[in-house]
Amino acid sequence: MAESAIVLQNVSKSFGDVNALESVSFDLNRGEFIALLGPSGCGKSTLIRLIAGLYPSDPGGEIAVFGEPVTRPSRRVGVVFQTYNLLPWLNVTSNLRLAADTRGMSKETIAERLPPMLEMLGLEQFSERYPHELSGGMRQRVALGQALLMRPDVLLLDEPFGSLDALTRDQLNVELLRLCQAHDQSVLLVTHSIDEAVLLADRVLMLSKRPGRIVEDIPINLPRPRDPRETRLLPAYASSVNQLGELMGVV
Ligand SMILES: Nc1ncnc2c1ncn2[C@@H]1O[C@H](COP(=O)(O)OP(=O)(O)OP(=O)(O)O)[C@@H](O)[C@H]1O
Ligand SMILES: [Mg+2]
Repeated sequence: MAESAIVLQNVSKSFGDVNALESVSFDLNRGEFIALLGPSGCGKSTLIRLIAGLYPSDPGGEIAVFGEPVTRPSRRVGVVFQTYNLLPWLNVTSNLRLAADTRGMSKETIAERLPPMLEMLGLEQFSERYPHELSGGMRQRVALGQALLMRPDVLLLDEPFGSLDALTRDQLNVELLRLCQAHDQSVLLVTHSIDEAVLLADRVLMLSKRPGRIVEDIPINLPRPRDPRETRLLPAYASSVNQLGELMGVV
């Protein structure tokens, strides 16, 4: 049996009288890519924060990452939040370096990993720029780089490409797919884009309106490696997109 990267059992979360999530259970297998789709406010970001160990779920539920119950943030888990938090007084290189440094990475390893990461993110020309000098998409790429530098075993991505234009988004999707394949990366991606979910994921979990419950668990049976332009031409791509579109209309 494949070792699970993440296991959620009966996880609920309320904030006062607001029930954000209700009885969520699923497994993310090692090396698997799950996309999480659901209406705004249904608890997707809350779910990411719970798995990241930023706050506890309600009593009665369990979350484990590689078999360990989650009680606090772990270095094995990389997170890219919906709103990136770059320090405005540090340039791109320093923002990346600081993120790795505060997580305990050695100066040598940082120096080794920084140049290829800047290249992968397409930010070599902007390494000395400050956040206010970057486009929204570039800032989002720096935030992604901060997580990827750590080479985490599990990546939690909360709409990391939402602000990007379609072409840049496709390019980053290709990079993400390449990375996942090369490193047996386990990924949980929150997205509003059905197209992105189908292009990237092995499975799509659909959440209901708040309180978020899993209402569908849909396998995406498209061949890998996937290339956005080629994959979009496949009949199986169209049928998955249609299926999810119809479900999104009724949740
Ligand atoms: N720290 C918090 N304190 C109080 N309420 C919160 C907190 N975080 C989230 N909520 C509430 O929980 C619900 C779910 O919020 P969440 O941010 O998880 O939704 P989401 O699915 O990520 O939405 P979106 O797609 O718009 O990003 C909302 O009603 C929100 O107001
Ligand atoms: Mg959110």
